[in-house]
Amino acid sequence: MTQSEKLESFYSRLSELYHLNCISALLGWDQRVCMPPAAVQGRAAQREYIAVMAHRKATDPEFCSVVDELYQEIDSLSEDDQVNVREVKRQLDIDRRLPEEFVSEMSQASSVGYSTWQGARPRNDWESVRPQLEEIVKLSRQKAELIGYQEHPYDALLDLYEPGMTTSFLKPILSKLADDLRTILPTISRRFAGVSPLKGDFPEETQKHLCQRVALDLGFDLRWGRIDSSAHPFTTTIGPNDVRITNRFSRDTFIPGLYGTIHETGHALYDIGLPQKWLGTPLGSPVSLGIHESQSRIWENPIGHSRAFCVYLSRLLPQVFPGFTTSPDELWNWVNLVEPTLIRVDADEVTYPLHIVIRTLLEERLILGELTVADLPEAWDDLYEEYLGIRPPDVKNGVMQDVHWYSGSIGYFPTYALGNLYNAMMMEKALADIPGLYVKIEYGQFTEFLQWLRLNVHMHGMRYHGRELIRRITGKDLESEPFIRYLKRKFSQEGI
Ligand code: CO
Repeated sequence: MTQSEKLESFYSRLSELYHLNCISALLGWDQRVCMPPAAVQGRAAQREYIAVMAHRKATDPEFCSVVDELYQEIDSLSEDDQVNVREVKRQLDIDRRLPEEFVSEMSQASSVGYSTWQGARPRNDWESVRPQLEEIVKLSRQKAELIGYQEHPYDALLDLYEPGMTTSFLKPILSKLADDLRTILPTISRRFAGVSPLKGDFPEETQKHLCQRVALDLGFDLRWGRIDSSAHPFTTTIGPNDVRITNRFSRDTFIPGLYGTIHETGHALYDIGLPQKWLGTPLGSPVSLGIHESQSRIWENPIGHSRAFCVYLSRLLPQVFPGFTTSPDELWNWVNLVEPTLIRVDADEVTYPLHIVIRTLLEERLILGELTVADLPEAWDDLYEEYLGIRPPDVKNGVMQDVHWYSGSIGYFPTYALGNLYNAMMMEKALADIPGLYVKIEYGQFTEFLQWLRLNVHMHGMRYHGRELIRRITGKDLESEPFIRYLKRKFSQEGI
């Protein structure tokens, strides 16, 4: 085959895989948004069938040899083709190291783990999930060995979610982050003494209206997107010009529903901002979970939790909830309330990364075999006491609160903290590049900021891995200082 024939067959296979992934995403969206509950088994069979087809197409020997040959001659390819071949080869190498038998064992353990956790968590029943989690940890350690690593077995797992990230680079950053957060936390949380959270009556229909209005102002567009409701908010891309987000509401406050929507809108704007002509290839795909999370959080936190955004919101709220008026200051206090709490997903901007550092430390020790699953609940509680000064009363509010480990995702948590660090670095640069950004936000003008994200982040797809991308944007390697600087400035007297 000539090089151009190889490229043709390479791209035509990627396009088949893209179609299969989109079909599977649609089945998944339907399952979480509209499917009747009794259809669950039939749907699982359909999705598994698609997954098997996709796996066969991705690992078929003919395709593999095309990828290997193109990789051999990578220097003679165009810059764009180089990125696509490099990334497909990287993923293929991982897939090839995991025997089919192992993959099915892992997927079995993950789905049993997930359903056991779902039933056991409300009952505070640690003993039923313990054996499942032991199995998942055992398989994850095996997975790290099969994939291979240079220094640390945890690297192999980290790299699955954040390509190129290593334990030896990440650990000192997270430990400095945790030290700095623990230093600034007491003063910041004292500032909120006496602030009680917003409580009122906000019917779901009006909250939906508010969320849609804000999402559209930020840049979401109903010509290429949908907003629906689901038990857990998520974003999924179904295909070209089809990105869907979901939200959920509590009747007594609009804050979690609104900020959940802003978060998912950020994910959606990233997906739709990827180069459309490269969809289905690495150049049209998100870099990593950490970068994806930076795109949701940059809207949610430095933008959404700012004083300027509260000015914008305080004008909008009475239009949506007639008779409800509030000042930007009061709103700022409600949305920013800092207080150590037990549940990660409800945490504020300052304590959130501490929840992640705790999980990362525990994961690493589980993978190294320094900590057994049997000792995990106590190790969890001890770290909460050490880092946040509170001790979970039970496992439901402790080690069993998150689904990740029980559904087989070890190495995933750090990407949440990376999202915060990346977005703080980007935000410093955006503020320098866009004069009067916060004034524009007061008036609900978000276009220039979105344009900045498109140019600096979205349009590159997977051209650069996370650390390289942030270096190109800011001139610096990943670090925690900008995030700490941001928090200090935000919670100082003048505030942002
Ligand atoms: Co997210």
